[in-house]
Amino acid sequence: MELPLALSDMFTKTAILPLLSLLATMSTGHPLSDSAPSSQPKPYTINVDPEFIEETRIRASQFRQTEPIDAPAWFDGPPTSKINDVAKYWAEDYDWSKVQDGINKNFSHFYTTVPSPGGNYGSNESLDLHFIHQRSNRDDAIPILFLHGWPSTSLEWEKIILPLTNPEDDSQPAFHVVAPDIPGFGFSPAPKAPGLGGAEHATVFASLMEQLGYDRYVLYSTDLGTVVAMSYIVDYAPRIINHVTDFYMVFPTDADTARYAANKTTPEETVYINSINSFLTNHSAYSAIHSTLPLSLAYALNDSPVGFLAWRYQLAWSVSDVDYTFDELITDTLMLYIPGVYGNIRSYKELFGLDSFAPKVPFTVPTTVLQFGGNSHYAELANFNYVPKDWVERTAKVTYFKRHEKGGHFPALSQPQWVIDDIRAALA
Ligand SMILES: *[C@@H]1O[C@H](CO)[C@@H](O)[C@H](O)[C@H]1NC(C)=O
Ligand SMILES: *[C@@H]1O[C@H](CO)[C@@H](O)[C@H](O)[C@H]1NC(C)=O
Ligand SMILES: *[C@@H]1O[C@H](CO)[C@@H](O)[C@H](O)[C@H]1NC(C)=O
Ligand SMILES: *[C@@H]1O[C@H](CO)[C@@H](O)[C@H](O)[C@H]1NC(C)=O
Repeated sequence: MELPLALSDMFTKTAILPLLSLLATMSTGHPLSDSAPSSQPKPYTINVDPEFIEETRIRASQFRQTEPIDAPAWFDGPPTSKINDVAKYWAEDYDWSKVQDGINKNFSHFYTTVPSPGGNYGSNESLDLHFIHQRSNRDDAIPILFLHGWPSTSLEWEKIILPLTNPEDDSQPAFHVVAPDIPGFGFSPAPKAPGLGGAEHATVFASLMEQLGYDRYVLYSTDLGTVVAMSYIVDYAPRIINHVTDFYMVFPTDADTARYAANKTTPEETVYINSINSFLTNHSAYSAIHSTLPLSLAYALNDSPVGFLAWRYQLAWSVSDVDYTFDELITDTLMLYIPGVYGNIRSYKELFGLDSFAPKVPFTVPTTVLQFGGNSHYAELANFNYVPKDWVERTAKVTYFKRHEKGGHFPALSQPQWVIDDIRAALA
């Protein structure tokens, strides 16, 4: 299928450059069009074209500053002083090659091709996937597939992969970890057509696990990955040992809303509903754009790496209780900027919706729900992750439930040991 002009132009300027050096046989057109499709995973070394990294650094150095107004920090968006400083750091000090060496050295990377999942996906072409596949030495290790969301990539799991594969204590369960980049994120090229929804993503990752020879495995999900999991646990139920999630959304029913209006909800229900209302009313503009007209925004974000950093930083700040170093902010931004911003922000259009977080019936898969609170730098969002347990049980067969007082939306980064302990306890 020929790419529309605007899209192919964007590929030429962004994705194709970093991917060029990966593929000796590649010439022009789509990044992977000249590489022979391979249904056999191949070891892979991340090697983003240094010219692209330099071009991006120059863009950061030419960032046009915004004049602040006299308002509290984070009132309208990330503080201008912080963004000016991170732009300067990007221009003068940030070192992608060091980061890339760490990513390559720490984990075993692979690349493969899976068939078009069909369904609503508008292309018959296969999809290319980058993934980390870290195998345990233990014969009794359990396979586990990690599904990240936006604005993350496979790097969200960087602190828990190695401890899960080889626990120090032999009495603890061990895992073979599979951590893909969702298409359009990190080093997995974006889908070539609309329609890669939750069910289609599930088929893509089920194909990946088949290639790796894993018949039954644990599924770990967060954020938009949870939307994929909601199809996965129904369409591929026999394959899932347990669905572990740190982001399980249940929205109020009409009956809940009526009880809320009549002041009949429990205090726990009330603060949860208030947090959800606040998020949907005052903190979710990004998802409204991503899920309606993503290309209209992608031009600007793809043209300004610092502007894109500020855009994703706002969300990361809103949903987490940690702050980020400049290195973390830039690396996390690059991981979504390298493949091209359009391909990952538009995933909301395929995955996000209030009903997309509920599984189709019947749901039979044993489910582990982990709740990490202190969910935000904004007090009004603090209870966003505290879905009442009896609400969770409406849409899941809960086998393990744990609520932590902090950790926010990226607990595998902010409280990795708690996540490791919970996964082990849930599967023990
Ligand atoms: C790689 O491992 C080193 C040493 O454990 C650590 O400092 C670094 O943050 C890791 N990098 C990534 C990308 O995980
Ligand atoms: C996919 O292939 C089938 C069979 O060749 C064809 O009927 C269909 O139109 C194709 N769909 C797309 C989106 O190319
Ligand atoms: C619920 O409580 C609020 C605030 O205490 C009050 O204003 C409102 O009238 C109450 N609603 C009902 C239906 O009792
Ligand atoms: C949204 O923000 C406005 C302005 O700060 C505030 O008045 C309103 O209560 C907020 N809405 C919700 C649902 O929290």
